[in-house]
Amino acid sequence: MKLWGGRFDKEVDSLVNDFNSSIQFDSRMYRQDITGSVAHATMLGQQGIIDKEESLRIVQGLREILADIEAGRIDFSADNEDIHMNIETFLTQRLGAAGKRLHTGRSRNDQVALDFRMYVQTEIRVIIGMLMDLEEIIVRQAQKHIDTIMPGYTHLQRAQPVTFGYHLMAYANMFRRDITRLEDCLDRMDECPLGAGALAGSTHPLDRTLTARLLGFAKPTDNAMDSVSDRDFAIEFLSACSIIMMHLSRFSEEIILWCSWEFKFIDLDDAYSTGSSIMPQKKNPDVAELVRGKTGRVYGSLIGLLTMMKGIPLAYNKDMQEDKEGVFDAIDTVEMCIPVFAAMLDTIIVHPDNMLKAANGGFITATDCADYLAKKGVPFRDAYTMVGRLVNSCIAAGKTLDSLTLEEYKAISPAFEEDVFEALSLKTCVGQRKTIGGPAHDEVQRQIDTIQAFLDQRK
Ligand code: ARG
Repeated sequence: MKLWGGRFDKEVDSLVNDFNSSIQFDSRMYRQDITGSVAHATMLGQQGIIDKEESLRIVQGLREILADIEAGRIDFSADNEDIHMNIETFLTQRLGAAGKRLHTGRSRNDQVALDFRMYVQTEIRVIIGMLMDLEEIIVRQAQKHIDTIMPGYTHLQRAQPVTFGYHLMAYANMFRRDITRLEDCLDRMDECPLGAGALAGSTHPLDRTLTARLLGFAKPTDNAMDSVSDRDFAIEFLSACSIIMMHLSRFSEEIILWCSWEFKFIDLDDAYSTGSSIMPQKKNPDVAELVRGKTGRVYGSLIGLLTMMKGIPLAYNKDMQEDKEGVFDAIDTVEMCIPVFAAMLDTIIVHPDNMLKAANGGFITATDCADYLAKKGVPFRDAYTMVGRLVNSCIAAGKTLDSLTLEEYKAISPAFEEDVFEALSLKTCVGQRKTIGGPAHDEVQRQIDTIQAFLDQRK
């Protein structure tokens, strides 16, 4: 008979049994379920709601069940629907009446809210650790390439010269925001729903502050009905995961472009690329492509959960059992993508010559040319037009800016002088961009130091 079998005259249909059960996927919360139950049983004993000695036996029984699960000595069953009832059933089989007292003053509604929250908390910490490792690798590469000049792009058209180190530091800033977003999420999750009961607390004198403390939460949640109906933490977490994947996906896209023959700014290490079954020359960036491809499923989980939650009245509804699989899948995906991406990035082979060639090839110093005239007193808008004409005539003549003579410059404006050549060298163009957030050497060093300090604070 089911744990809830008292009110029923018939067994549940086997189709319903399978349909209703969540043990296939929620068994991964066994540790959180047991930890939550240990805290609940301890509190029940402390408050005299159950006998102290029975409370100790329950705690002991739960610890043994945990050890048995971890040793693979226990099989879960769909007949017991979910992880909560599976573990309660094991406990009762082992302890008899004492096991049956564990659920005093508790509902599966606050139980699942607690387990799921603690599971997400644990995985957030894992993901933060992975992002920090990734940041270390980015910072290391950025430091190595702080003076490696490459084209910066807008519209995928060469725009202004930057350095590879600078470009990488853009990603370091994105992942730093991801880390703080996850930390914010942890902050808001730091309230314990245990003791909310089914929806309206309990008539037993539960000490919710005690269970919150035993479980490492800052405090109990403030409203029981909200506590059992709330999945904001999972939605926030999936939003943060979606943004992480979006960042990884953009980075992947660039890596894919950079290692194409059209760019050849980098090569991937053989250990992080794959071949083609038919084309012997191919070395494919499959890792980056898969990361880009897997982004969609994480977005899907976010949209799925938002949609599932949007129409359900307070408090708990069974729809909410659908909250878990998408979150678990997002966790698995993110925890697979970050380390493999980081390892791939750590082993890239950079081709500074090709980057420099690409930076030299276009008219990437055109802004600097207009700025040069502006510094000589020509109004910027006029300077802009003059340089535009100059670029146009260069294109017609098959020339580049750096191949022009002083006479050719002077034909456009008498303001050009001998120092124009120095002013338009790529080195000057990058080196003079010293504004906060710019690509000049010292400024990128400051950006690297800022991220490094951020990481060191968290070690
Ligand atoms: N397996 C359920 C879930 O994941 C646990 C909560 C069940 N509560 C209930 N009232 N049926 O949501």
